Amino acid sequence: MANDAKKKSDALVDVAIRRSMLIPSAEIYGSPAGFFDYGPIGCAIKRKIENLWREEMLVKEGFHEIETSVILPEAVLKASGHADNFKDPVVACKKCNSRFRADHLLAENESVKKAGVKLEGMPAEKLTELIRAHKVACPNDKGEMGEVGYFNMMFKTAIGAGDDRVAYCRPETAQGIFLDFSRIVKNYGNRLPIGIGQVGRSFRNEISPRQGLVRMREFSQMELEYFFNPSQQTHPKFAEVSSEKLVFELEDGSVRELALAQALSEGIVPNEIMAYFLWKQEKLYLAAGIPRDKFRFRKIPANDTPHYSRGNIDLVVDTSYGWIETTGTAYRTDYDLSSHAKHSGADLSVFVEEEKKKVVPHVVEPSMGVDRMFWCVLEHCFHPKSTVISEGNGAHSPEANRAEKDWEWFNFPPAIAPYHAWVFPLMKKDGMDAKACEVEALLRSAGLSVYCQETGSIGKRYARADEVGVPYCITIDYDTLKDNTVTLRFRNDGRQVRLKVDELAANILSFVKQGKVTAGFA
Ligand code: GAP
Repeated sequence: MANDAKKKSDALVDVAIRRSMLIPSAEIYGSPAGFFDYGPIGCAIKRKIENLWREEMLVKEGFHEIETSVILPEAVLKASGHADNFKDPVVACKKCNSRFRADHLLAENESVKKAGVKLEGMPAEKLTELIRAHKVACPNDKGEMGEVGYFNMMFKTAIGAGDDRVAYCRPETAQGIFLDFSRIVKNYGNRLPIGIGQVGRSFRNEISPRQGLVRMREFSQMELEYFFNPSQQTHPKFAEVSSEKLVFELEDGSVRELALAQALSEGIVPNEIMAYFLWKQEKLYLAAGIPRDKFRFRKIPANDTPHYSRGNIDLVVDTSYGWIETTGTAYRTDYDLSSHAKHSGADLSVFVEEEKKKVVPHVVEPSMGVDRMFWCVLEHCFHPKSTVISEGNGAHSPEANRAEKDWEWFNFPPAIAPYHAWVFPLMKKDGMDAKACEVEALLRSAGLSVYCQETGSIGKRYARADEVGVPYCITIDYDTLKDNTVTLRFRNDGRQVRLKVDELAANILSFVKQGKVTAGFA
């Protein structure tokens, strides 16, 4: 990680932990790597990201949301291929026995970097050869490394009092959707296409997770499975988005901005369906406050796609950890349904009326990691101390350039900020505190998330609100008691307007909708 990037990410982790956005899990027992809790602020932002996804990927499309079991019997994961294929290359130090992910260890080695070796999809024997050729030693004690082997990343458990019924914590939420598909499609008229989504926890026993929210052992996914008739690879709304341009990173490393129609005609995107969902992801990331020049769509080479996929395009984001995959979109074909049909004996096909035959639907799956997206939102909305506010994600006006803050703060779009507003009585006396409670209750009853802060100077309270990215602060002062008006301060430029209490909720709701974070633009 470059020095500046590291400084920024250290400052960010510091604020995130200090403000209890994130809490290392089981902290008082030493925090095992790969697990994080979300504190109140972090949890509120995470929920809002999930709700943004629900709105964009499910509600606006007329798709269905379900919630399925986290623990799955072994048979499910044998059929899905995870029991045999969901493995990472692992290598141990002969001296201290520390274990590392072999490809990651090689990727971090200067000599390997210089040689420009492509490590994706490389088999274990070749990784061992490379470790020997480049004399890669244990990062802990410089010990010699052993042979590269494989480690299955699923957490194993057992169902019931006996230990004979082997089960696993699901490594992706998708499998539950495939298992429930045939009941749901029957409930909804036995018609294709149909979209079914799920937000939930997944589990992967990562070998040596050292990258915070980027590589966790327990994390959240937002997955959509779009089931369609394989002879209909079109999407009814593709025409609306075909001229929209996205930035693609191709297999040869070149970066090109291409209209979706062109990406399709050049075979970069396998079908209209995947193209349409890439466009939805672009919208979602922009709405979450990630600037357009900080993410792109990476075409994954065939030898590096998962075992179930006939084509993958990852959404990658520029972060202090480098460009990281935060969303993977896969053309899973009928791999899962056919395999579950074969292993379980269930008929998972759908009768297509127009073709008078049964088909096993194909699937395009956009799969987003909530925690990685959360981290990217933190990184791209974070402003270290004493930075002049920039135009950022397009939600700001040039007016915002005037302001400068002497504290760290977050430029979250109001739609995903942890609270809509904080309410401050100027002083805890003369009825201002009681009036603040009244205003807080009024705003809550209008559906806004608000919180009343009574302690500290007003300046300190504004700084505290900025530090967690609250877009609006409302102050109750002596004038409020006389004329029922309050000041509303905008986070980004710190400027204030005076509003009537009766009109406050409607105004804030409208500001949230517009993404208005400065007083300076209409
Ligand atoms: N159902 C397909 C699937 O799970 P994936 O590319 O393995 O595909 C999808 O995972 C997303 O889940 C990733 O893009 C990433 O955001 C998130 N993810 C995967 N492994 C993760 C980990 N160890 N920690 C945090 N997020 C992870």
